[in-house]
Amino acid sequence: MNLHVASIETEAGTDGFLCRATDSMWTAIERALDNGFGLVFVTGGNGEAMGRLTLGDLRQALRDGAHLGNPTLGEIVRTGGLDEADSPVAPVLDGRRRIVGIEKRAGAAFLPVAEPDLSHAELRNLMDAFLSTWISSTGEYITRFESSFAARTGMSHGVATSNGTVSLHLALAALGIGPGDEVIVPDLTFAASANVVIHLGATPVLVDVDPLTWCISPETIERTITPRTRAVMPVHVFGRPAPMTEIRELALRRGLFVIEDCAEAHGASYDGQPVGSFSDVASFSFFANKIVTTGEGGICVTRDPDLARRMRMLRDHGMRPERRYWHEEAGYNFRMTNLQASIGCAQLDRMDGFLEMRRKVHEGYEAALGDLPGIAFPPPMPPRHEPVTWFSCALAPAETRPKLIQACKQANIDLRPFFHGLSSMPAYRRYARKCPESARLSACGINLPTSRKVDAQTTARIAEIFAGVLKESEN
Ligand SMILES: Cc1ncc(COP(=O)(O)O)c(C=O)c1O
Repeated sequence: MNLHVASIETEAGTDGFLCRATDSMWTAIERALDNGFGLVFVTGGNGEAMGRLTLGDLRQALRDGAHLGNPTLGEIVRTGGLDEADSPVAPVLDGRRRIVGIEKRAGAAFLPVAEPDLSHAELRNLMDAFLSTWISSTGEYITRFESSFAARTGMSHGVATSNGTVSLHLALAALGIGPGDEVIVPDLTFAASANVVIHLGATPVLVDVDPLTWCISPETIERTITPRTRAVMPVHVFGRPAPMTEIRELALRRGLFVIEDCAEAHGASYDGQPVGSFSDVASFSFFANKIVTTGEGGICVTRDPDLARRMRMLRDHGMRPERRYWHEEAGYNFRMTNLQASIGCAQLDRMDGFLEMRRKVHEGYEAALGDLPGIAFPPPMPPRHEPVTWFSCALAPAETRPKLIQACKQANIDLRPFFHGLSSMPAYRRYARKCPESARLSACGINLPTSRKVDAQTTARIAEIFAGVLKESEN
């Protein structure tokens, strides 16, 4: 494998990678999380490099109970290992073996398309929740997460769930969607949006997306409404907000419920209002690849106190909260745990930083890949739409896309094709419609690695790989 080594300062700076031999294991664990690379270098009394500790090493030490003896890092570090071939970073040493810089090494370690950004703050909350023994679905973190997240979306109530699929299910169930009902769903989305409609016995009506926004448009919705239409589910795909003011007006005029699927668009807004604030109920996902994560997790937000109460009741087996084991309806167990919520609380405090990091990553790709022939980026949105970057997206000629993905894979870089249009898949054959725009995007779209590991060195490397593949495809 061809390693590109360059002495580039990481966001964490050199100090973010260093621990002293006299430091404790917890210092190393927190620093390895905070620098984003999952490792630290240990230095001795004169500042000389002693060795490297990865989170893998520290996990092993914890499992072995090494922390019980309150060891210093000097006691647990293996000496050497400073220059492992698979290490994403290596120390730069001076003549006296002191660490004077950190080199990033693009291509040394696998670069996934998404990585959760977990810091010491998530770890401390999680340990706190664990040690409180409130590890199921009651606890302080749950209530804090629900109210903080709802407030962030401009809604009064948050009902946290075990994932972003069941939150959609819960929203539809609470609104009474069922057999005989039609729900308008975009063709270009993750399958969960349509699956929940089917699981409730209703019919997903798949509609094409707009070439500019990549979301459903009010015009398409209007054309698709039938006497059986009960609800519309706009999905803010890849962080791009649908025109929600118009969709809400249309829904009000035509007596339809709106359920926004905001799984991929935490922090996006339309007309200055956050996504999630335009609907009867909005749903978010906190899967590990999402902007804010709780591992697995989801939430429903609403302004309506009755709907919130009903969702809480249905989430908890349909039990009346004030009367134990009294079931008003056959409900579900869709609850989030306090452990999940503890991670979510720390993530929410860091959310603005995540959005800024993702915006910069996308700008970096635009700068590095923008001039390559055949490579395009999502069309800029009109000013009323304020998108966020979930995955940074690019478009490539359909016939070249597999070669780009393969070439990056060989260089240890993970690219993903967009979702398949729902109408193209066997599971949705009964509901399939002609959706040319969705088909085009799904054939050409690429998700690029989007995490704090992506820097100018990474984007330049991907640009170089793309340029090589595109040149070859020309011949
Ligand atoms: C648009 C959309 N809706 C729903 C979901 C389902 O969320 P989860 O994976 O948390 O169940 C996802 C994501 O994974 C998604 O991207």
